[in-house]
Amino acid sequence: MKREFVATSNSISAYESKHLQIAREAAAEGMVLLKNINNCLPIKPSKIALFGNGARRTVKGGTGSGDVNVRQFSTVEDGLENAGFVVQTKDWLDAYDKVQKENETAWMQSRLGELRAIAEQKHVPLYVAAVLSPTPKAKPEPMHTLTLNYNLDTIDNDIAVYAIARNSGEGTDRFVENDFDLTATEEADITLIAKKFKKCIVVLNVGGAVNVSNIAANPNIGAILIMSQAGSAGGDALCDILTGKATPSGKLAMTWAKKYADYPYADEFAHLDGDYDDSYYKEGIYVGYRYFDSFNIEPMYPFGYGLSYTDFETKYLSAKVEGNDVTINVLVKNIGKCAGKEVVQVYFSAPQGQLNKPYQELIGYQKTMLLQPSANETLKIHFKISDLASYSEAFSGWVLEKGEYLIRVGNSSRDTKIVLKLDITQDIITVKTKNVFGKADFTEITTSSNMFTYPSEEKEGKSAPNVKIDTKAIPVKAVDYSDATIRVNTTSSINEFITYDMVKKGQYSIGQLIDQLSPQEMALLCCGAYKDGEKAQIIGNITISVPGAAGETTAALNSRGIPVAVMADGPAGLRLTPKYYVDKDEKFVYDEPEMGEIIKLLELPEPPKPDLSDAEIRYQYATAIPIATSLAQTWNNELIRQIGQMVSDEMLGFGIHIWLAPGMNIQKNPLCGRNFEYFSEDPLVSGKCAAAMTKGVQSNEGACTTIKHYACNNQETHRMSNNAHVSERALREIYLKGFQVAVADSDPFAIMSSYNLLNGEHTATHYALLTSVLRDEWNYSGIVMTDWGTTRIGAESSHGNFKQKYKASDQGGCIKAGNDIIMPGTKADADKIVESIDNKSAKCPITLGELKVCATRMIKLFIRLGL
Ligand code: BGC
Repeated sequence: MKREFVATSNSISAYESKHLQIAREAAAEGMVLLKNINNCLPIKPSKIALFGNGARRTVKGGTGSGDVNVRQFSTVEDGLENAGFVVQTKDWLDAYDKVQKENETAWMQSRLGELRAIAEQKHVPLYVAAVLSPTPKAKPEPMHTLTLNYNLDTIDNDIAVYAIARNSGEGTDRFVENDFDLTATEEADITLIAKKFKKCIVVLNVGGAVNVSNIAANPNIGAILIMSQAGSAGGDALCDILTGKATPSGKLAMTWAKKYADYPYADEFAHLDGDYDDSYYKEGIYVGYRYFDSFNIEPMYPFGYGLSYTDFETKYLSAKVEGNDVTINVLVKNIGKCAGKEVVQVYFSAPQGQLNKPYQELIGYQKTMLLQPSANETLKIHFKISDLASYSEAFSGWVLEKGEYLIRVGNSSRDTKIVLKLDITQDIITVKTKNVFGKADFTEITTSSNMFTYPSEEKEGKSAPNVKIDTKAIPVKAVDYSDATIRVNTTSSINEFITYDMVKKGQYSIGQLIDQLSPQEMALLCCGAYKDGEKAQIIGNITISVPGAAGETTAALNSRGIPVAVMADGPAGLRLTPKYYVDKDEKFVYDEPEMGEIIKLLELPEPPKPDLSDAEIRYQYATAIPIATSLAQTWNNELIRQIGQMVSDEMLGFGIHIWLAPGMNIQKNPLCGRNFEYFSEDPLVSGKCAAAMTKGVQSNEGACTTIKHYACNNQETHRMSNNAHVSERALREIYLKGFQVAVADSDPFAIMSSYNLLNGEHTATHYALLTSVLRDEWNYSGIVMTDWGTTRIGAESSHGNFKQKYKASDQGGCIKAGNDIIMPGTKADADKIVESIDNKSAKCPITLGELKVCATRMIKLFIRLGL
């Protein structure tokens, strides 16, 4: 592949400027205006006071694999200055920098202390202790006593912006104190500033919900704006919103509670009850607004909520019901004074029957184009009646229980009107399945006697037109679990040495090629490429074709012309090494360690620096797009598709075939450290966003997505060995549903299984999850890969100086379940696969036929990618 975006000079390339602009528009559209009183926003460029940990140390995206190594990005301070504001509080920002520096040093020192103790105890070097130890707690926000009074009387006191930042990432979860809740310093400073300035604007540079109850209630605070973690152009996009160059049109994709304790079973999350190993999903299907609405808990800001600078009038016009298809027509008119966009959301309330149903569930949504004042647009929102079905373990299938289905239209989960009733006169099993996830070993909440309601609801319900559904028009099907994939071992009767090229030309089938491979060769195909030796075990040290890529498929079958596919993270853009060196044959010789400081601190043996006198520098700067949560907040699937297309162009430009994104786990609890990498608490929003992204990425031949982490990766503490106990219904309606929607709508070529266990079985080795549901029920035709290092020998002990209850997943088990490639791949993985063939004493014996199924899918992937 020609890597056209790789540059020999450090100057800004044309693609960078173009992509920055696209990222900026998306970032602005993902910002959500929560509060705006007394015409606080928009504001004109002027003298401004700027405070807060997010002002200069703006977070562009979280940490870990979700981070992107960019050339530069605009902070809140940069954005304000670029837009023409004069920041008057540089002294405060400088003083705050000092506080942070001291905090960082203290945190590093305490971390080093921990690592030294582990190193001593285990008799290993410090850097090995770092690999062996659990991911540290995120660096806490420092308290400080920087006085604000010293300059507040001397500067222009018209406008203050206080930017609150939060950061998190893989391997560690968030905390309630000083994280979900604001710090005492933040609360005190904001209260003081709000008194002193005519306009006080709080900007939330966060990846997920924080407790804003106090600032929402404070009448001196004019505006609260979720900037989110907005990628490369975040600061500039923020100022587009602050100045009114762009009108806010983002809406929440997760419910923001008044306090953390309002989330279901909040006190049982990870570190809060001390049980890291087992998580019981006791809220069942009542996740997010399904819980808040069904149990009548008033959110601070509901799901779907977000303000604009203009006003809209939304009028339900009509509905068309044709067989299984429903179209809701809604007219949106801009009745305010500036241009803006509105999102219309359609929810349904299913009748209570044998199954308890939530108060309501989202079934469709659409955003208007940019409407000028007085302009209008009719939105057509489609859904299928069969999509209103619930999962019944008793029926073992998806069922539309008889009764009235209320259709509600509005612009947040707490602002809807009943417009229509669909009357289904008999129970219909739309899909007959098998129950495959076992009986839940705990009790989940199933019913509520106190649902949310509003004064006009009863009247609306009575007067809404009733449409009787022709039940014969609803398609029904029974799943055939016969497993159409080849599970028998065939042998080759062809003498010719079959190459990949011959298969591509149609001379031979994939099966005929596979039949000529040895078990060792197939095992290599089903493991990521590895370098021999100790270093190979360290993630990040597997760069072969593209510096900084997370992994790639094997080159060992080169003699047959089997190509190599390269993978990079995800999900906030491409995670690559920005600067490296090549020799005269363009062979990569050295990359500048990204974490130079840490390498020094951990006394890591520096990788020997080759003689670079004849080497040439190469640059690869990718664009950081807004985090997934921010993209979901746009409620604009077309925009997400465009972002996907842009990422895809960068993939081709840098030589990446498989993007390890989008992440699409459900935002079950706000403390999950990776929520920012995920879209929403709602499966439909998650599925539609992932589908839009996939459509964009896969619009270029040679690029595909990997939707991840399948499934229930909802806790980062002990992430490799956390056992999620989930009922079959909650799994299917909530945690798998988004993946199902994405598979059906966009056909992603790859899926990544998660680290956690599901009802006692690692998802990586879960046959029911990876084959019965994914392939047999959903007809998924792509590959599944493991998450990085899930099979690591000793993962159970290496990932901690603590005891983990559950062991690492088994290589044979992965193949048997239909996990086609073990990543990043080690020699031990490949050997273990071979050893497991027809071996009764293996942990999970496999047949050659089962290995052939996975190997076949790998070749099919290369062909689909056009390699
Ligand atoms: C993460 C994945 C990521 C992979 C490769 C893992 O630690 O969980 O999301 O794609 O690393 O970097």
